[in-house]
Amino acid sequence: MSSKFSKIGFVLAVAGSAVGLGNAWKFPTLVGQNGGSAFVLLYLILTLGVGFVIFLAELSIGKLSEKDPVNAYKNLAPSHKKAWSIAGFSIIGAIMIVSFYSVVIGWVVKYFIDSFGIWGFLEGSNSLFSFRNLTSDLALSEANFTHFLSEDILTQMLCFIFVFFFIFFVVSKGIKDGIEKLNVWMMPTLFILLVLLLIYAAFIHEGFVGALEFLFVPDFSKLSGDSVLIALGLAFFSLSLGVGTIITYSASLPDSTNFITSTLWIIFINILIGLMMGLIVFTFIFAYGGDPSASGPGLIFISLVTLFAKLGVVGNVLALAFFISLFFAGVTSAVSMIEPFTFYLINSFGMSRKKALVYIGIVVFILGTLCVLSSAKATSFTLFDKSFFDVLDFTSSNLIMPLSGICAAIFVGFVLKKEALIILFKPFMSGIYFEIWYIFLRFISPLAVVVVMINNFYPIEKMLAWF
Ligand code: PHE
Repeated sequence: MSSKFSKIGFVLAVAGSAVGLGNAWKFPTLVGQNGGSAFVLLYLILTLGVGFVIFLAELSIGKLSEKDPVNAYKNLAPSHKKAWSIAGFSIIGAIMIVSFYSVVIGWVVKYFIDSFGIWGFLEGSNSLFSFRNLTSDLALSEANFTHFLSEDILTQMLCFIFVFFFIFFVVSKGIKDGIEKLNVWMMPTLFILLVLLLIYAAFIHEGFVGALEFLFVPDFSKLSGDSVLIALGLAFFSLSLGVGTIITYSASLPDSTNFITSTLWIIFINILIGLMMGLIVFTFIFAYGGDPSASGPGLIFISLVTLFAKLGVVGNVLALAFFISLFFAGVTSAVSMIEPFTFYLINSFGMSRKKALVYIGIVVFILGTLCVLSSAKATSFTLFDKSFFDVLDFTSSNLIMPLSGICAAIFVGFVLKKEALIILFKPFMSGIYFEIWYIFLRFISPLAVVVVMINNFYPIEKMLAWF
């Protein structure tokens, strides 16, 4: 490995990967639906009890091998090398995610462009592009979003192509000159923008209090058995586990880094930014009568933009700040999905970085285009009764991520020598904490993941109904 992150570069790059579009709508919506701070507490416990545990396992695999996930398993496994290397192919999951994720970042770009408020002349015309000024009319806002997704392949493709070239350009520069540089300026800027938006939100008194209550007053009655499983799934996706990202970034972890405190910082930043995003979004929603239970893209691309539109020029500035923040959060995650497979092609086939990216680029471009086409009316198609978008999301998040998490836990817990781990952990973690982590790693965390997986395929509530 020729280049390593700087210490702060590692923390920012992994935090950049963790903080993503998931924080903007998954986290706040799920918190709201599952009883506010009661869910935050649960999420925190599971993030530390399972997410943190598996995160350290993936980090050990990366750091001990300094290789991409496939070669890492192959090099470290004392026997059955080929079989173990299959676990490393979870990097395919990252390619699936980045394909639809870039399309969604493209939507963010579209709304960023809309937020300039100079598109009045396109209104009512038969323009090729669907750039529109933000509107305060909820029905119209919804119609605009639907039109963009289902009728306007051209604008969607244009935005996707912009994102595509942007992220591939960054990864083409490598870990230090591309990924680290991007994160070192984008992550602090993202944070500053969110603080400014939050200060603005705090002055909208009624909305802010509503948002605080929604996110922080515990309502245990909304906490169901399902909440546990939802929180665990969120912890996985949100910490970028199970698709080779953490293994790959840890291969460039500088030796002297205290990776335990770094990991705790990353988890803290991830939760903090999720909560900040939640407070910002829900303040506007509560203050101006939006629907807090609207989830997913509807919350941001439909409800939130109507609220910005009500505020005139100030609203334009706020919308620009908000969408550029989302763009930053998204691209720092997207680059972390491309790097694992790139690193694999470089290591296994001796390819140059550029050549590897051309191959990966072709695949991502095709998959991303299929996502756009599958949701557009004229070209819509489904696979196994799901949109292509959902197929990629389901396969990566519900199958590849948990399976690969279990593999990492078993591999580090049972196959790797305990002595090697002790040497790695000793400078940063005292004996008793190490033993607790080791027990969680071998038994508790993988079991928890198995339960979540089973529940994804066959809801446990249904099974209980048998008795
Ligand atoms: N953690 C990112 C988010 O919350 C998503 C992600 C998943 C990034 C897997 C990298 C790998 O949006």
